[in-house]
Amino acid sequence: MGRAAVAGGGAGGAHWWLPWLGLCFWATGAAAARGTDNGEALPESIPSAPGTLPHFIEEPDDAYIIKSNPIALRCKARPAMQIFFKCNGEWVHQNEHVSEESLDESSGLKVREVFINVTRQQVEDFHGPEDYWCQCVAWSHLGTSKSRKASVRIAYLRKNFEQDPQGREVPIEGMIVLHCRPPEGVPAAEVEWLKNEEPIDSEQDENIDTRADHNLIIRQARLSDSGNYTCMAANIVAKRRSLSATVVVYVDGSWEVWSEWSVCSPECEHLRIRECTAPPPRNGGKFCEGLSQESENCTDGLCILDKKPLHEIKPQSKLFFLSCI
Ligand SMILES: *[C@@H]1O[C@H](CO)[C@@H](O)[C@H](O)[C@H]1NC(C)=O
Ligand SMILES: *[C@@H]1O[C@H](CO)[C@@H](O)[C@H](O)[C@H]1NC(C)=O
Ligand SMILES: *[C@@H]1O[C@H](CO)[C@@H](O)[C@H](O)[C@H]1NC(C)=O
Repeated sequence: MGRAAVAGGGAGGAHWWLPWLGLCFWATGAAAARGTDNGEALPESIPSAPGTLPHFIEEPDDAYIIKSNPIALRCKARPAMQIFFKCNGEWVHQNEHVSEESLDESSGLKVREVFINVTRQQVEDFHGPEDYWCQCVAWSHLGTSKSRKASVRIAYLRKNFEQDPQGREVPIEGMIVLHCRPPEGVPAAEVEWLKNEEPIDSEQDENIDTRADHNLIIRQARLSDSGNYTCMAANIVAKRRSLSATVVVYVDGSWEVWSEWSVCSPECEHLRIRECTAPPPRNGGKFCEGLSQESENCTDGLCILDKKPLHEIKPQSKLFFLSCI
């Protein structure tokens, strides 16, 4: 039986399968033979050790095929005289296993580690209702144990984003939500945001939140949040870039308070002004609405109206007033 354990070895031609069948036979035979004390087919020390089922120290991990590179699956069990992989319910050929045996010093038990390669072609050619999967079966004197099932999937990342972020204009202190739905991929893409080509670190800025579902949320927009935002999607195969979205944070203008009234002119008018500077419009924000200048009739200062009876004044002639000063 020890020789059957060295897979991929000298066994060739039509004989390669025989040791394997022998193992099967032995395995079931051993189970039947237990209790009858018929140990003739069993290697050494069974009677002295009550025996344990193999325990997996390493189970095969879920894996992704990247491009055309095969991936290795491995498992390791103790005690284990033999381990074989089963993929999609079928035994993997003995020759496709690489197997290493060692002794666990503390327990004196045999440790066996087994590898197989799975190629892209194998996964592509498999058309099952579920993902391609493999599992290990390990034998000890007492019986067999099965490992977890590891799935093997072909990794990819499509080209186009399912949703690109859209540029927008927001008033200062408004909320900005930029949406990004990355291209479909296996494994699913991770998303990162760039602002003007620099990665955004939302840890550094509590006004920015990138946790929600790949979206970028700026709670209270600042002028400095204006810029070009790009969503980057990446998985183990590829990295993709969304269209860039230009965000403009604008400020609508607002009036400063009115100035004092000017002195009363000879035309008996005074005026006051105000400026659209509190704040001035920024980044395309609206200019202030309403008049920037206001006038009123008055009777003080230079005004000469009250010095002459109204009927002597030609109202349309400003020169008249001036000439009277
Ligand atoms: C898997 O492939 C690599 C190289 O591609 C090779 O070195 C290794 O021995 C193979 N393993 C098995 C179990 O066939
Ligand atoms: C954003 O992109 C536009 C064109 O798409 C470009 O004109 C502008 O300079 C960019 N702004 C920054 C801050 O990179
Ligand atoms: C100022 O007086 C003139 C003439 O009396 C009048 O027509 C005008 O409406 C007045 N203007 C204001 C702002 O009250």
